[in-house]
Amino acid sequence: MRTVRNVKDLRRLIQHYNESRETVALVPTMGALHEGHLSLVRQAKYRCQRVIVSLFVNPKQFSEGEDLESYPQTYERDAQLLTELDVDVLYMPTREEMYQRDASTTITVAGVGEGLCQSTRPDFFSGVATVVTKLLLQCLPDVAIFGEKDYQQLLVIRRLVRDLDIPVAIESGNTVRENDGLALSSRNAYLSENERISAPHLYYSLTQAQHRIGAGEAISKVLWDSEQYLLSVGFESIDYFAYSDAETLVPSDRRLTNRPARLLAAAWLGKARLIDNIAA
Ligand code: PAF
Repeated sequence: MRTVRNVKDLRRLIQHYNESRETVALVPTMGALHEGHLSLVRQAKYRCQRVIVSLFVNPKQFSEGEDLESYPQTYERDAQLLTELDVDVLYMPTREEMYQRDASTTITVAGVGEGLCQSTRPDFFSGVATVVTKLLLQCLPDVAIFGEKDYQQLLVIRRLVRDLDIPVAIESGNTVRENDGLALSSRNAYLSENERISAPHLYYSLTQAQHRIGAGEAISKVLWDSEQYLLSVGFESIDYFAYSDAETLVPSDRRLTNRPARLLAAAWLGKARLIDNIAA
């Protein structure tokens, strides 16, 4: 595996792959890799001849007071795991390489980039959209792969790629879960022993809500009960528990029968803000 720290070297390698007519997949990450990331890498290897994994903790997607400084960093372990998976390139740009000191361009995505996570993390999606646009333009891969656990992020990225005519196919990978249902996330490392016991209730509450909505119960009552349930099992606050159109993310208080719907939730357990979502 080659480790590359700047755009010039990255482009030189990719040009070489292009000249040999080898397809390239990109898996963007912020490191602290877990089985969810590794499953995206395996998917990338299945799809393309060459796989690039980027590892960049993007300061632009953290608002003030968020966990930028404490975000888990396990670089050596990450590099080892990626080597074992036979990844071709680990792209680890420095902050200075990614953002010039006087950089003044930000990408914002209206519609799917509004509401839900954006309501409590105001800089998150513009930060993600900006860095992902840059990563895609730096690599120009054939395919880029993102996890469904960050469902709103996935829709934001699909939309910006479409709107900006970036020639890349965006693919998604299924959420990988612990045996008890907890979605894998680098931030699960923040959970204390007791919080870890409560954490799977987030997924459980989503599946219960899915069941009740499917049985015809009123959406507003199901959402309210789900929030109360999470508070009763130890979650301290709920950012949202929503039932939305799966493509536009517009919330609906009526069961969608002719369009796909999604249940999405974000809630706090101690220092960890957990998010999850399922088809509804
Ligand atoms: O999902 C993530 O890890 C990040 O938001 C991403 C897509 C790598 C952008 O920094």
